[in-house]
Amino acid sequence: MSDLKKLTNEVGAPVADNENSITAGPRGPVMMQDVWLLEKLAHFDREVIPERRMHAKGWGAYGKFTVTHDISRYTRAKVLQPGEETEVFVRFSTVAGERGAADAERDIRGVAIKFYTPEGNWDLVGNNTPTFFIRDVHHFPDLNRAVKRDPYTGMRSAQNTWDFWTLLPETFHQRTIVMSDRGIPDGFRHMHLFGEHTFSFYNDKNERVWCKFHFKTQQGIQNLTNEEAEKLNGMDRESAGRDLFTAIETKNFPKWTMYVQIMTEEQARNHYENPFDITKIWRHAEYPLIEVGELELNRWPENYFAEVEQAAFTPAHVVPGIGFSPDKFLQGRLFVYGDAQRYRLGVNHNLIPVNQAKGVKGGVADYHRDGFMRTDGNYGRTPAYTPNSAGYWTSQPEVAEPELELEGAMWRYDPKEDPTDDCFRAGGDLWRVMTEDKKALLIANTAADIASVTDNVKYRHAVHCYKADPEYGERFAKAAGLCWDKVLELAKLDNNGLIQATLTPNV
Ligand code: HEM
Repeated sequence: MSDLKKLTNEVGAPVADNENSITAGPRGPVMMQDVWLLEKLAHFDREVIPERRMHAKGWGAYGKFTVTHDISRYTRAKVLQPGEETEVFVRFSTVAGERGAADAERDIRGVAIKFYTPEGNWDLVGNNTPTFFIRDVHHFPDLNRAVKRDPYTGMRSAQNTWDFWTLLPETFHQRTIVMSDRGIPDGFRHMHLFGEHTFSFYNDKNERVWCKFHFKTQQGIQNLTNEEAEKLNGMDRESAGRDLFTAIETKNFPKWTMYVQIMTEEQARNHYENPFDITKIWRHAEYPLIEVGELELNRWPENYFAEVEQAAFTPAHVVPGIGFSPDKFLQGRLFVYGDAQRYRLGVNHNLIPVNQAKGVKGGVADYHRDGFMRTDGNYGRTPAYTPNSAGYWTSQPEVAEPELELEGAMWRYDPKEDPTDDCFRAGGDLWRVMTEDKKALLIANTAADIASVTDNVKYRHAVHCYKADPEYGERFAKAAGLCWDKVLELAKLDNNGLIQATLTPNV
């Protein structure tokens, strides 16, 4: 970057005029030989890259993660050892809106944390909710098609969203969270952050436990009502980004306390439901939060496109001591992020500075070579193949994680056929711990969100609310103007029966 404040062309030659095109005579057409003009236009034409398929609107900041408590009995990950301080880059996002969408929308919020650890980058790619809508990767493209734009009208459609959600009872808990007061956080600083999935830890002795990650905001929870959000969006579409920017610029650095929940392999085997099902949570009373450390954001990136738009996170990036789990939803995510980024940013996206590993002894050595935009030395003359007699870049078996025994035949299992599966318990538990004002808000928000939707879909939701808690069902049915006797009648049906009875608007 030149600090002489003198304009050059793309290869460093001085540019004489950046405002007046070369023309044939004072009023004549532009000449092809105005090559700087051609270059300027051609570059401009190519400046927009594909947006993220979801989580397109986002904001990022750098900071640090400091370990304050000792969890070395569970994990050998260097980044989680007592006293360790690690640089991080965090990107917050909304999910359904496009790159230009307003920040204060009712939606879940994404939070992707890149820990630049000495053992490689660890990406924790989570949300501001402890659970998720769905649990089979097959449903993920459909979820996004249901909440994004309708192919005919080109508009967002509450009908599509609620139709899809209510056809899958496992979405109920997340539906309840999104419609609750927490559905529109007041900026990113005032919400908790969750890894959502079950991951694994393994320690120096190669003993494995299952774990979940939680970050509690030190700023306190604050949310917006529909009315406050509408007003805010009318005044400032960037409200959450601006709030984060202002906090960092005024050195009011936002902080979160990180906790983990731990479940042993033995406990997982005896758990009363599938502990690897992302639509379920682990009750805190049974699996208490264990404090680990503090996340602080303290530096705004120098350039939005370079560092925020080009940031690439993937749950596939873990470090020794942290592993995956049999959660089949997580398994699907392990493929899709890198794949999306190869399309969005190119095959060499890990060479973009914000994505590069920092402080790894010996540097990155992966044998990946060539491809578009390979901007470094491409590993020079070192061998391109392995094994090689020069002894280059051999595997490191000492970091291998413990083996995992699996059981059962290969098959397409529907979790709803698992007798321990209850899609409504967690949502019902949440309803029962809500104070009266929170319950009233949940009912009012849901009634407003679902108002334009056909009655059959409303009945499906009412039945789900009823199954979670009769009071929840009755209050929603009343707010949505539904017949209570009909709700009770439909509630006698099983899931397939309910779907059949509510396929058309004439219930
Ligand atoms: C199988 C289910 C899922 C699939 C297929 C999927 C797919 C994707 C894709 C393709 C992107 C865009 C990536 C990019 O262009 O860089 C993305 C972004 C994101 N996803 Fe997912 N996702 C899934 C589930 C989840 C879940 C359960 C969470 C939270 C726990 C989550 C959190 C995020 C976040 C935070 C981002 C934005 C990352 C950023 O800031 O760059 N996703 N997802």
